[in-house]
Order: sequence, then C-alpha cells, then structure tokens
Amino acid sequence: MQERKLIELTGKQTQLIIEVGEFAEILHWGNKVSGDLDRCRSALYRPVPQGRLDKDVSVTLSPELGRGLFSSPGLEGHRNGQDWAPVFVLKNIEQSDHKLSLESEDPQAGLCLSTEIQLDEYDVVKTRHTVTNTKSGQYQINRFANTLPLPAKAKELMTFYGRWVKEFQTQRQPLLHGGYQQENRRGRTSHEHYPALVAGSQNFSEIVGDVWGFHFAWSGNHRLRADVKADGRRYMQAEVIYLPGEVVLEEGESLTTPWLYASYSDRGLNGMSQQFHAHVRNSVISPDFTSKVRPVHLNTWEGIYFDHDPEYIMSMATQAAELGVERFIIDDGWFKARDDDTAALGDWFLDETKYPNGLEPVIAHVNRLGMEFGLWFEPEMINKDSDLYRAHPDWLLAVDGYEQPTGRNQYVIDLQNNDAFDYLYERLSHFLGQYNIAYIKWDMNREIVQPGHEGRASGVRQTERFYDLVDKLRTQFPHVSIESCASGGGRIDYEILKRTDRFWPSDNNDALERQHIQRGMSYFFPPEVMGSHIGSGHCHCSRRRHSIEFRGLTALFGHMGIELDPVKEDVTEKENFARYVALHKSIRPLLHSGTNWRIPTDDEAHQVQAVVSEDQSEAVVLVAQLAMPTNSLSGHLRIPGLNDQATYRVSVLDKPSFYEKIVNTQPSWTASGCEVSGSWCREVGIVLPVLDPETAMLIKLERIN
Ligand code: GLA
Repeated sequence: MQERKLIELTGKQTQLIIEVGEFAEILHWGNKVSGDLDRCRSALYRPVPQGRLDKDVSVTLSPELGRGLFSSPGLEGHRNGQDWAPVFVLKNIEQSDHKLSLESEDPQAGLCLSTEIQLDEYDVVKTRHTVTNTKSGQYQINRFANTLPLPAKAKELMTFYGRWVKEFQTQRQPLLHGGYQQENRRGRTSHEHYPALVAGSQNFSEIVGDVWGFHFAWSGNHRLRADVKADGRRYMQAEVIYLPGEVVLEEGESLTTPWLYASYSDRGLNGMSQQFHAHVRNSVISPDFTSKVRPVHLNTWEGIYFDHDPEYIMSMATQAAELGVERFIIDDGWFKARDDDTAALGDWFLDETKYPNGLEPVIAHVNRLGMEFGLWFEPEMINKDSDLYRAHPDWLLAVDGYEQPTGRNQYVIDLQNNDAFDYLYERLSHFLGQYNIAYIKWDMNREIVQPGHEGRASGVRQTERFYDLVDKLRTQFPHVSIESCASGGGRIDYEILKRTDRFWPSDNNDALERQHIQRGMSYFFPPEVMGSHIGSGHCHCSRRRHSIEFRGLTALFGHMGIELDPVKEDVTEKENFARYVALHKSIRPLLHSGTNWRIPTDDEAHQVQAVVSEDQSEAVVLVAQLAMPTNSLSGHLRIPGLNDQATYRVSVLDKPSFYEKIVNTQPSWTASGCEVSGSWCREVGIVLPVLDPETAMLIKLERIN
C-alpha cells in the first residue's frame, strides 16, 4: 500500500490535486492554488455523519461498492458469479510533467486496474482505465466507467440532444438528486446523444461562471451520467454500453476504456470551448492536416444526386473552378448499379455504364482546373441487392434467425469477419492507389440494431474494427483527407477525429438551422473541422428559402463548401458564390486558427460569433439575426478578447443587400467605420444596426496602433 501523499497536475490555469494512498481521490479540480498543500489537506477531512457507514468513504476514480461507495460503480463484472465486488489497492504510481499513471490491484478478485490521468497545457484533462484479468477463469465485464468528481457548486447541466437534420441542440437543467443519464444504443456516436455534457455553477453562461465540460471519445454506444449523492457530493461518469456477454477477459487479457476528456474554466462556456479547441488543434487532429490550408469544396450531392454523367460533371467542375472552389467531390452514385439508395452498397467498382472512359478523364479535368478531387464511400454498409451480398450473405453484422429492420434499405458489414475487412481495405486502397484522390467522404447511413458476430454481441469490436480500417488506410495514404459523415452529424467525436480531419455536421444546409447546429457543435470543436456548405436558395431539407447573403455568411465560419449544381444557377447567384468563396479565403487563416467567442447580446434573437487572432491584431464578428428583432433598437455589441490598450478600426465586410432600407437610418459606423479601443469594445461596445430576420452581417476589426 502507498503512503498517503498529494500529487499535483497543473495546466495553464487549472490544477488537479490528487491524494494517493490506499486509493486515489481528486481533492481539487479548478483554478491553481498555492501554499503548502500538505498542511492545507487537513482542511478537507470530512465528518462522519450518523446513519451511514462508520467511516468516511472517498469518491475514488473508480467507485467500488466493496469499499462502501454507493455511487454507480466504476467496474461491474464477475467470474462465473464470483469476484464481483473488487476493492483495488494502489500499488504503483508514476508521474511525469502532465501525467499520472496508477496501478492498483485486487489479488483476491484476480484483477489489476491501471488508471491514466493527465492535464495538459491547454487545461484539458484526459483519463482512462484498463482492467486486466490476472487469474485463471474468464472474467465477464458488464460495465467499466470513467468517473470524475464535480464540486458542489456544479448545480446545472447543459446537455445535447438532436436527430437527423437537427443535430447538436442544447438544453439546460438543474443537477439534482437522481441526476441525469443519457444512453446511446444506436451503434454510432449518434445524432441523438452526442457524447458530451457540461456541468456548471448556477446560471453559468457563455461569458461567466464555473464550468466543467466533458467529452467521451467513442464512436459507439455510450452512457453518460451526472449525479448528486445523498451526502451532496457530485460526480460525472462516462462509459461504453456493453451488450450482454460482449466483453469476456481470458487470463492475462485487458480491457481499456475510451478516453474521457474534461476541462474546467472559470470564464464560462467560452473559456471551456477555447481550451477544448486548443487541445483539438494541438493534440487530436493529425499534424498532417493542422498546418494544411483547408480547400473550399464543391460537393455534387444536392446538385445531381444519383444522376451521373461525366461530361456534365466536368462542366460542373469547370464552373466550380470559376467560383474559386479548390476541391471537387463526386458524392454517392458513381459505383456499379448505384442508381438510387436501394442497391449496390458494397460493390465498390466504378459504374462503367455511367463512366465508360473511367474516372481518369474527370479527375484529370478537375486537376487541370487546379482543384483536388474527392470521392464518396460508405464502406461499412451493404445492400441486399448487391453482388457483394449475393456472393457473401454471411458478411452481415446480424444475428442468425432474426430479420433486423433495414435503415435506408441497407445493412451493416461485419468488420470482425476478416475476409470482409480485407475486401473493403483492398477496394478502398485500390481507388486511393490508382487515382489522384485527395479526400474521401466516409459515410455511415444507418443505425446498428443487432451487432452480432458468430451469434455473439460485438458492438465494441465493430467500432474498433472500423477504427482499424481507417487507421490502416491512413497509414498507407497519410495525405488523403477523410471526412466523417453519418447521415450528417451521426459520427462526430474526438476518437474519430484522430483519424479523420473534417466532419459533415448535418444534411441540413438550411442557413437558419445551420446557425443552431454549428453553434451546438462549437462547444467542443473548432470551426475548421466543421464542413459548412452554401446550399441552393431553396433548401432541400426544410424547403425554406434564404438569401445568398445569409447562406454565404453562415457557411463562411467553418470549412467552407458549396453543395448544388453550379451549372443550373443564374449569373447573380454565381457571382455571389464567388464573392463568398473569396471572402472566406481572405479570412480563412484567421477563422481556422483564432480564438472563438460566442457573444451574448442584448437581443435573444441575435446569434453572434467572433474569431480573434492569436496576436489580437484582428477579429471578425458574425452577427446573425435569427428572428424578428425583439426591440426597435438592437442594443450594443460588446466584443471580448481584444487587446485592452490597442485601437481597432471597425468596418463592415458584408451585409444584407437591402440593408439601408430596413430602417430610416442605420448606425453611421456601418457606412464609414469607427475606431475604438479593445477595452471600449469589451465594456461599452458598438451600437448594432437593425436587421431583418434570417439575415446576417460580417464585421471586421483591425488593430491600427
Ligand atoms: C448521406 C450524407 C449525404 C450524402 C448521402 C449520399 O445522407 O449525409 O451528404 O453523401 O448520404 O447518399
């Protein structure tokens, strides 16, 4: 057993103080404190109330029932009914700068538990556990969770919900006894239960309050829980949901949880997001892509759907290049017999009736125009109406004897089947090796109902084998950019982001809906990983119409693209596409590297977002008027994050075409600009113009001294 001592992990502004002894307990997770910590420790010895166990019980990193901790246990399992209440005793501690590794064991239960916890220079905590079966006999795991304590002042939650074409919606609720729990059993990260939550002090907001944000990096089933114990202590827990009998460890075998990422900020949600964004930019996205300029896309999907004619596609490419597009993507419909969404998934061979001269002429044309070429795949899926299924009906991820419901007419391929895995690898590497493909859109368009492999549940292995397939391709083709798409935003998380570099947040290109979706996604992801396309004036999902200005400005704040048929658009629309593409390129370096702010204003019908350059020399602010202005005057825009002493020239980069006609007089600065100090901007602000609903305005600030 270890002697009791305190260990500190420090970030830039935050600190974890962990007491280690027989077990480990986090005593403090918040702003840095100073002083002789060992002397301070006695300030935290808890009373032992009546009517409870006769000793104090700590909330450990993996709560154990056997220790008398009645919270949701960190590990639940058994060895044929035995060894089900382990109590782990700490044996070994290793600490380096930002990392702590703990080895604990329960020799009686025949289990070893190792815990990794780190706090990096961006104030992001990462933690995970590994359990090893050290005794003879199989150990069956039912649950295995990551647990982090929350302080008593974490009184409210912000959680996420959504659905197809309405991802990343947020809701607020108090954190009370009984707690909050979300379960995702859809087999992918899911639109419905994005694996993140935020706990915070009463009324925490974008700008103020203590917040603790959590992101569980896993692309399969999960459970998140935040709870208040009967004694008032609070905690957060994240785990993979294991299906019955899914995880069985033979002697010597181990199971590791996904990483749980967490970050504390005393500067509200903006501070939290800025920390997560910095971490994602520096430690999650592959270095191959962090320094690469993200090219503007044109994706053919909403332009032509399954109607592929290479001559026509080449004319789309010609037009795209004229608009300033830098990467041209052929979406679904290019492979053998794929004429609609009922057939052909799995048959990853070019449709030679549609492309009699092959793909080369199209790719060569795209490249000659100076654009990269990209192609759509949905590797994990299979239609029963496909040559692949006819040859290998046993490759389905399914349970024999049941007919599971289809999703978009399709089934899932069992990636634990090595022949199926090798086939998919061979098909994808064939295309990536043979053609000059710079990007693939990796889609996944159905939920997983019965992930059965040889009769047994295998949801976890399916997700791991999916990671293996992407990793194997990434190793062979490290410079091919991969976008993670699952009917839009159904597979967006940090674990898949390690092996991809762009997300398709939603199939909904409606600018108003996108404002909400992109806002929700911004809590944990920086804008450059967020695919954001200008759709046609008549949105295909909502059938709503939006001006090109609103669509253009909404698509601007991400990894921009266009998703329509440029051949069919009129001259004015095309001029505007080109204008927004050029505008995006001119501020892209700032958008994709700066500090992001979500700015509350005096009108709830506004949604304002700003990006300030790291050196505080410039900023852009997007003011979106989502609904009718609440008052006749729009109030002030107060912009945080600038240099207090510096002077900034404020000007309008883009505004609605009928801007001057909205009211009798708009603020004079919107015509002739104004000059204000950074501290003025933050404290006093700039008067906002009156905008019509579903319009937006882009403002630029440049430091002039
Ligand atoms: C999914 C994607 C779309 C498109 C289609 C193609 O729905 O989200 O963007 O690629 O598949 O079938």
